[in-house]
Amino acid sequence: MTPDNRIIPAHVGIIMDGNGRWARKRGLPRSSGHKEGLETAKRIVAHASDSGVSCLSLYAFSTENWRRAEDEVNFLMGLIKTHLRKQYDFYKERGLRVSHSGDLTKLPPKVREEILLVEDDTKSFTGMRVNLLINYGGRDEIVRAVKRYLVKGGSPDDMNEEAISSNLDHPDISELDLLIRTGGELRLSNFLIWQAAYAELFFSDVFWPDWTSKHLDEALAHYKKRQRRFGGVT
Ligand code: FPP
Repeated sequence: MTPDNRIIPAHVGIIMDGNGRWARKRGLPRSSGHKEGLETAKRIVAHASDSGVSCLSLYAFSTENWRRAEDEVNFLMGLIKTHLRKQYDFYKERGLRVSHSGDLTKLPPKVREEILLVEDDTKSFTGMRVNLLINYGGRDEIVRAVKRYLVKGGSPDDMNEEAISSNLDHPDISELDLLIRTGGELRLSNFLIWQAAYAELFFSDVFWPDWTSKHLDEALAHYKKRQRRFGGVT
């Protein structure tokens, strides 16, 4: 497909939901849903990049996901760690720059290490940005942004939206244009809440492991039809 940057959202975010239900429907353990979900993520990353998206943010593990059973948390951490270690070629072939949003300090050291390595290894790539949200919460990011502001000596008098925006995890990533949630739930679950202020929303009933390029095309087509007014009048 020929990318058309006028109508392709620059920043797309996906809440990849439905892995557990996908597995349950097949009588499989939840871990199989996450494994399949990772394959879907790679498929969608490749297609988003081919479609001309500049940045794709993927919600891989939230600050609330620690409440899950220990086995599931360990499985997800292992899956993410192995993926980051083994998939360098996948990112390199497509020139994808990987970055991380979230609180690194509370992640297992080995996961933290892989995140820092892949960020460093891909930092010069100029293709689509793949922003992985791991131990991420929107409120937590805002709190950490305020802390950064205060640590730099910011004063209450100068506090404004720009002071928060410029202290987020990645001030260079533009606001969210299109927010997609798969799996049938209609909520934001603390996903990029600052950046999503004017995002267009697309909800899909399809469980994440069943998502294909065709579903992303549908979401992008839907976006094209939206009239974005940012609070103004056309
Ligand atoms: C939500 O489905 C999914 C997650 C909490 C994990 C998502 C992680 C991956 C797809 C793998 C990691 C991806 C990358 C790119 C490193 P759920 O378990 O809440 O499903 P349910 O609502 O059906 O139970």
